[in-house]
Amino acid sequence: MPSISIIGPGAIGGTLAGWLSKFPTNDVSICARTLFDQLVLDTPFGTIDLSPAIYTKPEDTQHVDWVVVATKTYQVESAIPWLKNLCHEGTRVAVVQNGVEHMSCLAGHFPQQRTVPVVIDCPAMRSAPGRIKQLGPINLALQDDQNGRDFADLFDDPSINIRHFENWKTAAWNKLCNNASGAVCALTNQGANIAKDPVAARIMENLIREVIAVGRAEGAEINDSIIKEVITDQSSAPDGATNSIHADYIEKRPMEWSARNGVIARLGEKHGISTPYNKMAADILQVIEKSFD
Ligand SMILES: NC(=O)c1ccc[n+]([C@@H]2O[C@H](COP(=O)([O-])OP(=O)(O)OC[C@H]3O[C@@H](n4cnc5c(N)ncnc54)[C@H](OP(=O)(O)O)[C@@H]3O)[C@@H](O)[C@H]2O)c1
Repeated sequence: MPSISIIGPGAIGGTLAGWLSKFPTNDVSICARTLFDQLVLDTPFGTIDLSPAIYTKPEDTQHVDWVVVATKTYQVESAIPWLKNLCHEGTRVAVVQNGVEHMSCLAGHFPQQRTVPVVIDCPAMRSAPGRIKQLGPINLALQDDQNGRDFADLFDDPSINIRHFENWKTAAWNKLCNNASGAVCALTNQGANIAKDPVAARIMENLIREVIAVGRAEGAEINDSIIKEVITDQSSAPDGATNSIHADYIEKRPMEWSARNGVIARLGEKHGISTPYNKMAADILQVIEKSFD
């Protein structure tokens, strides 16, 4: 019976906890910052109720086979103390987040060969601790290796779409094209279809061009056609539809500007690639975020 502990039972962690617990041989527990008693996951396929063991102190946990890190990217550092008690020499840690730093975020804290990067595409939101609404299907992108295949085997439901990539970076960087361009929504306080505005579309295009250049230098395969795909997709979004960085902006919560735009500037510098649009987007969002205090 695989034991699985999920660090960060928010929108994504709670959704994964619900589906993982549906597989009767999985033993699912939760490492939370905020305690709650029961997890209720509303999905497009029905409601999943579960009462897993919930820990709020790392010292109360025990070894497990799998850890799933599903905090926001800027919360990973605070999640690292959980790993000490949870991990034995065979434990694997799946990092399920946006961005492209799934491997590097645990470097120096956990062995890279047992770190499993996961890209998730699944609209979900949390209304209160333990109350999660999954708004669409789960799509997971995994590396086509033993770790990726073993993680996929923890799920047992045809509604979960799992794709294995020979080069996982390709999945992560293609998603980042979308996420990086989404900064325009938070910067203008407009929904996704601000992309219909030619000036907004031009800024998005420049943000994505930088992601493509840096992503290719990092070894990802990205077609130029993604620029048109992302902008067309955003332009046709219904009024009011937005992305998570804009939702965080509206709620005055910390934003993932570092993982979505700052990373392009950091890695661009490493490769000698100029990234003024992403650098400025990250800097302005950082200044805006400071005003939330
Ligand atoms: N939501 C989506 O639709 C979606 C879709 C695709 C990808 N993603 C990505 O998935 C990742 C997670 O996003 P999310 O929307 O699930 O965020 P979220 O709802 O804010 O959930 C984060 C959870 O982590 C918990 N947490 C923070 N620090 C912790 C710590 N040190 N120990 C234990 N728990 C801790 C938070 O606890 P509290 O309860 O105390 O806040 C919260 O429950 C992000 O990278 C996001 O970009 C999200």
